[in-house]
Amino acid sequence: MPSTEAPIGAQKFVPEGTRELDELKAAAAGCEGCELHENATQTVFGRGAASARVVFVGEQPGDIEDQKGLPFVGPAGRLLREAVDAAGIDASNVYITNAVKHFRFELRGSRRIHQSPGPAHIAACRPWLVAEFALLKPEMVIVLGATAAKSLLGPAFRVTRSRGQLMPWPASAQHPGDFPAADVQALATIHPSAVLRADDRDAAYKGLVDDLKVAAEALSR
Ligand code: URA
Ligand code: SF4
Repeated sequence: MPSTEAPIGAQKFVPEGTRELDELKAAAAGCEGCELHENATQTVFGRGAASARVVFVGEQPGDIEDQKGLPFVGPAGRLLREAVDAAGIDASNVYITNAVKHFRFELRGSRRIHQSPGPAHIAACRPWLVAEFALLKPEMVIVLGATAAKSLLGPAFRVTRSRGQLMPWPASAQHPGDFPAADVQALATIHPSAVLRADDRDAAYKGLVDDLKVAAEALSR
């Protein structure tokens, strides 16, 4: 499908009445909701326990995730796990996923260079997030970086301005189908990849951990 056409979106690939995350994951493996499936290796679905209280939402799988078929298993994932641990969030309470589930890249020679997904990809892929949330019914959603924030909290949300603040899910960012439920708490923070790229990596890492501590504290109440 030429990328100039609006993608058909993931909705028609989402099975109705699904009760198991594994069933959703299997269906997502065949998603052709936008053109990103054409060049990527595979769909990278979310991972974690069905009983998880917290859902982390990143941008899209990277090169390593695309090859392994699992989210956050590359350098950004390693850093995120360290930060989650340092903040005192129990990893068994965490489910982790991405706003877009195929790797978008540009080929330069034989290298695959990460490209941020566009608004059309984010919108096309949102039905999978909606379906994940519907099954998980999390207490809290931690939004990592601008792409996930745009997908979930709306185009006007600024991570730099509102990071580290635990808030009730904004009514203005309620999506059709009661997604996420109004009593879900939201917290936005910087993306672990941005920590890896930061000039002052230690300060950026500390900022991420401090934001996550706000979440940890609320979860322990
Ligand atoms: N960055 C993301 O946003 N998600 C991943 O799964 C890996 C890196
Ligand atoms: Fe489907 Fe999302 Fe992949 Fe596009 S990025 S093909 S909507 S799973």
